[in-house]
Amino acid sequence: MAEHIPIGSDHAGFEMKGHLVKALAAMGYQVEDLGTHAAESTDYADFAHPVASEVSSGEAKRGILLCGTGLGMSYAANRWPNVRAAVAWTPEVAKLSREHNDANILVIPARCISEADGVKILEVWLNTPFEGGRHQRRIAKIERADGERRGDAAVE
Ligand code: RB5
Repeated sequence: MAEHIPIGSDHAGFEMKGHLVKALAAMGYQVEDLGTHAAESTDYADFAHPVASEVSSGEAKRGILLCGTGLGMSYAANRWPNVRAAVAWTPEVAKLSREHNDANILVIPARCISEADGVKILEVWLNTPFEGGRHQRRIAKIERADGERRGDAAVE
């Protein structure tokens, strides 16, 4: 069965989202477009949370978000447990966000890159596996127990 991928953007990412939805469908993914569905001004968090909640719960393995800089979307998405939302502005950053950080949400800064680069970044991100090993240990340290406040190097 085709992998289901939720995607969302605000108005700043709306146009590029259309291109990415088409690219995802052409690659055989089952795309769930959670909006925005028009170019009118919107608030990025309204679209970040629906995508991030699916990834956080495991309903979706991966998700895609777009806004102007990628920053607002990443702030909101990264509030969810087990979400690792990475802003990628080059294919190299996208590749490393998978290999080293096991990013499960790709955030595209739509006002800062070309449409062609957006599609390239998407392809690289989707097709790059996580390296595991020492990176798995580092990822495990991101999700800390409530009340843990120190950046304690001894935490396993
Ligand atoms: C919208 O104008 C813009 O602020 C938003 O898309 C995003 O860049 C925020 O981080």
